[in-house]
Amino acid sequence: MPRIYLDHSGTTPVDRRVADEIYRFLTGDNFGNPSSHHFFGYAAKKAVEEAREKVAHALGADREEIVFTSGGTEADNLAIHGAAATNFKKGNHIITSAVEHHAVLNTVKALGKQGFETTILPVDRYGMVSVEAVKDAITDKTTLITIMHANNEVGSIMPAAEIGKIARERGVLFHIDAVQSFGKIPVDVNDLNCDLLTISAHKIYGPKGIGALYIRKGTRWKQTLLHGGAQERLRRAGTENIPGIIGLGKAVELAAADQAIEGNRLKALRDRLISGVTGSVEEVQLTGHPVLRLPNHASFCFEHIEAESMLHNLDLKGIAASSGSACTSGSLEPSHVLLAMGIPPHLAYGSLRLTLGRDNTEEDVEYFLATIGPVIEELRSASPF
Ligand SMILES: Cc1ncc(COP(=O)(O)O)c(C=O)c1O
Repeated sequence: MPRIYLDHSGTTPVDRRVADEIYRFLTGDNFGNPSSHHFFGYAAKKAVEEAREKVAHALGADREEIVFTSGGTEADNLAIHGAAATNFKKGNHIITSAVEHHAVLNTVKALGKQGFETTILPVDRYGMVSVEAVKDAITDKTTLITIMHANNEVGSIMPAAEIGKIARERGVLFHIDAVQSFGKIPVDVNDLNCDLLTISAHKIYGPKGIGALYIRKGTRWKQTLLHGGAQERLRRAGTENIPGIIGLGKAVELAAADQAIEGNRLKALRDRLISGVTGSVEEVQLTGHPVLRLPNHASFCFEHIEAESMLHNLDLKGIAASSGSACTSGSLEPSHVLLAMGIPPHLAYGSLRLTLGRDNTEEDVEYFLATIGPVIEELRSASPF
């Protein structure tokens, strides 16, 4: 039986070339602390700065604007808490959307409990925030807009650059969670008009537990989460995760090198998946935008299907897929993203997310298409509905 991985938005395998680089910094003489004033420390510092340069280059940023974090969740928290607290005297209003990852949504909600005013914008049926809605939500008290670049559950790509333009005109900080888009579509902090931007290594064939926050020079932002040493220019205390940082740098370099070609290849496979599923299975709908979506992302809702059983049966046939975000699956609640898009709960329970990656082939897609029909049929025939 084949083993086909179609859950690259959940996480990606670590690229061999990334693993080799990490290994170099787990062994031998490469164990220094970058804060140390001796040969071992200098070598570690040099390696960290080279990785920082690679990340900055890929984002169109300067080296000093990159802060390494323990992943996307920490970078989102760091961005939002820092911006909210630093600008508190100016205003206490934060805008986000209903389809954000919980790393953003729950952070904004936590600030709401601490006395901040929050606006959680609705989305359309494709999961898109409207630029007009953002514009209308801004008040004199708004200090931060935090909206994702591409949605993890349905793959829709938001009008981030336009939102950033409005934020800038109104003097409001703009944070983008680019965890899902980075490495798959162009992510340039200047084109996107953002002040803060989050990325994570494990979505781009790097290791888990490492990410970065871009902070535009001159942004009114101070770190408020971790109190400790002066690492990362006082923006993120704690001894640096050197192997992780090296891995992130290498993963970014590799992603940048093949993004355009790989994007086109994945898009063709994605479109085959979408037409194959909607053409062969009854009572199924594509979720997310039909065109403005990530090149590797296909997602659906099936009538009269319960996602957990579908995933289990696909797993038995050698296919690893997801019902949506890794955080939502396993909980009994239907996805907040699908509900915000107006999908009724009974349909949201039957969600399936297929996210392609470097190792996937046409054969994988055809195997999936040959499998999904019988799986759905079997589940529906056993269902009381
Ligand atoms: C859109 C988005 N933001 C943030 C995160 C969290 O990133 P990490 O797993 O690195 O904490 C994820 C992970 O799934 C994500 O998809």
